[in-house]
Amino acid sequence: MLGPAHRAGAAANAYYRANPVKYDLVDRRCIVTGASSGIGKEVARNLAYFGATVVLACRDRDRGSVALQEIANDSGNDRVTMLQLDVSSRASLRAFVKNVTAGGPVHVLVNNAAVMCRERRVGIDGFEQTWATNVLGYFALSNLLLPAMRRAAPGRIVHVASTYARGLDLGDVQFERRRWAGMAAYAASKQADRMLAWRLAEIAARDAISVHACHPGAVGSGLFREQPNWMTRLMRLGSGWALKSAAEGALTPTFVAADPEVSSQTGRWWVDRRARPCPFAADKAQLEALWRVCAEQAQCDA
Ligand SMILES: NC(=O)c1ccc[n+]([C@@H]2O[C@H](COP(=O)([O-])OP(=O)(O)OC[C@H]3O[C@@H](n4cnc5c(N)ncnc54)[C@H](OP(=O)(O)O)[C@@H]3O)[C@@H](O)[C@H]2O)c1
Repeated sequence: MLGPAHRAGAAANAYYRANPVKYDLVDRRCIVTGASSGIGKEVARNLAYFGATVVLACRDRDRGSVALQEIANDSGNDRVTMLQLDVSSRASLRAFVKNVTAGGPVHVLVNNAAVMCRERRVGIDGFEQTWATNVLGYFALSNLLLPAMRRAAPGRIVHVASTYARGLDLGDVQFERRRWAGMAAYAASKQADRMLAWRLAEIAARDAISVHACHPGAVGSGLFREQPNWMTRLMRLGSGWALKSAAEGALTPTFVAADPEVSSQTGRWWVDRRARPCPFAADKAQLEALWRVCAEQAQCDA
């Protein structure tokens, strides 16, 4: 069937109603992690609107099913499905990759699922939960899907990262020696997400898979659900008071996943749909060192 962007009546992101763009993604199969809520759900909705076959990769089956119904109804796209995935679990990642690759080719991966914890928690595989979800989850899913993406190339991998990125210490990625704080662990994870994108861009360039990182903006989403109220007040101040909606926050990740202009480039950092200088990209030894840490912990390496 044709993508809803080609049909009258499909509900679209307000931005696309005001600024019509018609990406034709009818022959693309896209995976979005953390698609049950927030920015991920809106990215998935946009990709469905542009006609892609979309796999919602969701931790919670019930929330995932609700998102699936909503996106399928809004877009009129009957090629939207949901698969369970806990990106912080090696076993879940491997089961997901087996299922999703059995279901068809993979052209686009949007690594989006992330957490900002209030207390230090250790996840199912024994890693600090922010690190396991935001970093090892991105790393492992990209690496495990890379063989399938190579077969279906050209492809694209998008890391939803953040301008709030700092403090990565490769000798203490899980804050075992330093005092753990939720914001510090989150900022370090988001620095790692960008660095992994730059390293993966080098590895995947020969396979016609372009890899990018992007910032969605300051979005009033569920990400801060565990955080005290002063944090969202601080974010509002930092972003000129008005936080973006999840639909607005989805525009840059959607652009990076879908726009033809992006496919001729790789290893770029995107903010407000514009490529910016790439902080953290210059130190190749650090990128390689991070890659080795992740490969050992995630027990995979493309
Ligand atoms: N909000 C902002 O201001 C902001 C700014 C910069 C960057 N970002 C980035 O944008 C991305 C999306 O964040 P958001 O603001 O949309 O947050 P959100 O509303 O909390 O959404 C996060 C999504 O990730 C999922 N998730 C969490 N842990 C998971 C796991 N172990 N396995 C699978 N899925 C998991 C959540 O699923 P559940 O429904 O099961 O919880 C949820 O669907 C993140 O990468 C974040 O770092 C956000």
